[in-house]
Amino acid sequence: MIFLLALLYPLCITAYPNGQGIEGSCTSMIPSHGASAQTSSAPYTVGLSKSTYSSGERITVTLSTNPGATQFTGFLIQARAGSSNTPIGSFETSNSNAQTLTCTTSASAVSHTSNSKKSNIEVTWVAPNANITNLQFRATVVQVEKTFWINVASSTLTYVAATTSSTTVSTPITATQSNYFGNTSIATVAKQSNSSGSPSTTTVAKQSNNSGSILSFPVLYELLIVTIIVITGFTQI
Ligand SMILES: *[C@@H]1O[C@H](CO)[C@@H](O)[C@H](O)[C@H]1NC(C)=O
Ligand SMILES: *[C@@H]1O[C@H](CO)[C@@H](O)[C@H](O)[C@H]1NC(C)=O
Ligand SMILES: *[C@@H]1O[C@H](CO)[C@@H](O)[C@H](O)[C@H]1NC(C)=O
Ligand SMILES: *[C@@H]1O[C@H](CO)[C@@H](O)[C@H](O)[C@H]1NC(C)=O
Repeated sequence: MIFLLALLYPLCITAYPNGQGIEGSCTSMIPSHGASAQTSSAPYTVGLSKSTYSSGERITVTLSTNPGATQFTGFLIQARAGSSNTPIGSFETSNSNAQTLTCTTSASAVSHTSNSKKSNIEVTWVAPNANITNLQFRATVVQVEKTFWINVASSTLTYVAATTSSTTVSTPITATQSNYFGNTSIATVAKQSNSSGSPSTTTVAKQSNNSGSILSFPVLYELLIVTIIVITGFTQI
C-alpha cells in the first residue's frame, strides 16, 4: 500500500522547487524524498501571533529558523486538531515566498514557491467558525532534499467566543454656566457605542444668553448702592 502510494504520488517537496504538485503529501505531510524524516528536534520554530482564536479571526503564523541553524528551502504547513489528518481553516499569503494549496479544502495548506534558502516565512491563517480542541499548526520543513523534519508543531491555539460588544456609555461631559440672572447654558457631549459597535456622538446643547440686557446685575447693584448713598447724603443735610 505504501509502495503503491509512493508510485502514485512520487512527490517531493524539493523535487517540486515551486512547491506545487505536492498535494499528494497533504495527508501524510511526508515528502517522498527517499529518506526518512530527521528524528532530532527540528532547528525550526512555528510561532503564532496569539494563543487564542475566535471565529473568522486572522492569526499570523511564522516559520522561522532557530538562531545559528541552517536555513530551510521547502515547507508545508497545515492547522490540525490533535492527531487528526484533516486540515482546518484556510490560509492567506501576502509574500512571494509562500502560496496556498488545496488539501481537501481550498487554501487549507501553504507551501514554498521556490527552493531558495529562507530564514523565515509569515502567513495568515483564517480561523473556522468552530471550537476545535487541541488545535495546532504542523509543519514539514525541508533543509535540503534528504534532510527534513515533519510534525514541527506550534503551541496550541484555544477557541474563545467572540467578544460581544456591550453598550457602553461613557460619562457625559457637562459644562454648566450661569450668568448673572441665573440663566443657565448647558452643553452636554456624550459619546456612546451601541451593541453594533459603531460609536455615535450625541450632542445636546442648551444655551441661552442674556447679553441682550443692557444692565447686568453688578451694574444694577452699583446703581442701587449709589442711590442709597445719595439718599443718605441728602437726609443728613
Ligand atoms: C470549547 O470546547 C471545549 C471542549 O469541549 C470546552 O471546554 C470549552 O469551554 C469550549 N469553549 C468555548 C468558548 O465554547
Ligand atoms: C447603532 O448602530 C447602528 C448601526 O451602525 C446605527 O444605525 C444606529 O443609529 C446606532 N444607534 C445609536 C443609538 O447610536
Ligand atoms: C453670550 O453672548 C456673548 C456675545 O453675544 C458671548 O460673548 C458670550 O460668550 C455668550 N455667553 C454665553 C454664556 O453663551
Ligand atoms: C434666560 O434669559 C432669557 C432672556 O434673555 C429669558 O427669556 C429666559 O426665561 C431665561 N431663562 C431662565 C431659566 O431664567
